[in-house]
Amino acid sequence: MNCKNNEELANLVEEARVYTKYGKLVDYIPALSRENKSDLSISIYNLNGEFFYAGDYLKKFTLQSISKVITLALVLMDKGESEVFSKVGMEPTGDPFNSIAKLESNRLNKPLNPMINAGALAVTNMIPGRNVEEKWNKLIHFVAELTNDNEVSCNQRVEKSEFETAFLNRALCYFMKQHKVIDGDVEELLSLYTKQCSIEMNCRDLARIGAVFANDGCDLETGKCIITKDIARVCKTFMVTCGMYNSSGEFAMKVGIPAKSGVSGGIMGAIPQKCGIGIFGPSLDQTGNSIAGLKLLEIMSKRYSWSIF
Ligand code: DON
Repeated sequence: MNCKNNEELANLVEEARVYTKYGKLVDYIPALSRENKSDLSISIYNLNGEFFYAGDYLKKFTLQSISKVITLALVLMDKGESEVFSKVGMEPTGDPFNSIAKLESNRLNKPLNPMINAGALAVTNMIPGRNVEEKWNKLIHFVAELTNDNEVSCNQRVEKSEFETAFLNRALCYFMKQHKVIDGDVEELLSLYTKQCSIEMNCRDLARIGAVFANDGCDLETGKCIITKDIARVCKTFMVTCGMYNSSGEFAMKVGIPAKSGVSGGIMGAIPQKCGIGIFGPSLDQTGNSIAGLKLLEIMSKRYSWSIF
């Protein structure tokens, strides 16, 4: 079962919006700390083509960590599983997304999964291309294909703000370079990674990408398979095990769908064979996930029996 109309969805958003007051805006990327804390919007693409929305669903926000799923799909298609997983693992960490702790304790000094910052940096390091420009063009072209929107681009204000303050990500990179998990110039990698995190879109575009993953990698309208079924499966599996960082277990219990969050307050959901979901709510909980976005998904999952388990 799924929601039947926009009015029903608007009521659920209002029920969840109350929770925005219990969270806070992200503070370590200065350009993201100026959002409106009480914002909450959602878009849903059902795989039968129906589209529903509530709140300011055309307002743009940056993808941040949601972009990690997209780069993973791109790099898996180009390099294949054995090369990618020689550099990054498949296990949840139970640690915050930017933690350096397990990089040192892991025997191979390899990041544990591609959804934490260290793992995502290692994945971004594998995007094909001779320089940052070529790699960026490859990535943004892929995003344009997924959203069916050639105008999609990166927010330069957020990009600059993150690049100037990404000291922890720099540390992760230098550690991984020392241990040969990544190669090349660290500043160039950071430049590409911050551009990737600053890709900007609205809830509708995000729901569309979620729908591609939900639909085994194929575009709903054109039928074109942009990602292979197997890679879509790998990405959805990571979304379940690591998509909400150190609250992925609780999310699996309370909501039970493949989803990925970002510190801008975005959440992309992909319910297999059912729908794609895009949410924006910048007030965050302690693990860096949209506090009201999670509540909204919890309410909806109960109401529409969404859990895949
Ligand atoms: O690298 C960072 O720290 C950010 N660009 C992305 C982190 C993020 O979105 C974590 N998500 N909840």
